[in-house]
Amino acid sequence: MLKQILPFAHELIQAAIEPGDLVIDATCGNGNDTVILSQTVGSDGKVLAFDVQEQAIEATSRRLSQYELTNVDLILDGHQEVAQYIPEVWKHKLAGAIFNLGYLPRSDKQVITKPVTTIQAIDTIAAHLKYGGIIVCVVYYGHPGGEEEKQALLDHLTTFDQDYFRVLQYGFINQKNNPPFILAIEKKSQRSEVTP
Ligand SMILES: C[S@@+](CC[C@H](N)C(=O)[O-])C[C@H]1O[C@@H](n2cnc3c(N)ncnc32)[C@H](O)[C@@H]1O
Repeated sequence: MLKQILPFAHELIQAAIEPGDLVIDATCGNGNDTVILSQTVGSDGKVLAFDVQEQAIEATSRRLSQYELTNVDLILDGHQEVAQYIPEVWKHKLAGAIFNLGYLPRSDKQVITKPVTTIQAIDTIAAHLKYGGIIVCVVYYGHPGGEEEKQALLDHLTTFDQDYFRVLQYGFINQKNNPPFILAIEKKSQRSEVTP
């Protein structure tokens, strides 16, 4: 009955986005999330997919070709630079973004997401979310540096103003080997903002 982490992460973001939206894959890696986002926003929509590793951009590009998906801009840059890539017309209208934190499976474990840049990217995207928009982070933290990023994120997101954002933590607390968990940030709708 309880949903597994990755399917639930996808369910959360898919509930917030619709065909024609502009959405962000902040850590495209091998492109698993990119494909799902691309299929969900459809040919009228657009995905901005970031990664700092060329091999991730290439892997995602191959994955997209397999599915004949052409609505993705692959960006070889850190997600902390996201502001400069959001087109003017989409500012403050983003429907969703997904982060998979940690390192790229089967590659250099030294290249990991880092607390300062992850938080910078989340804050920038949060500022550009539309009402009802969502940021979904799948937090892997079993690797060196992971615990530090997890703690920094929890500390930071706890301070988000509840009048404007709802922040969810979802994970299994009795599993071995530091299983990933979800942190999801939803921008509250205008209506719920005025609801006491
Ligand atoms: C856990 S993997 C992502 C897995 C991916 N979502 C997938 O479906 O395969 C994390 C990725 O974040 C990337 N990364 C690390 N720091 C980054 C940054 N500042 N901006 C964008 N990507 C970054 C790594 O290169 C790695 O590919």
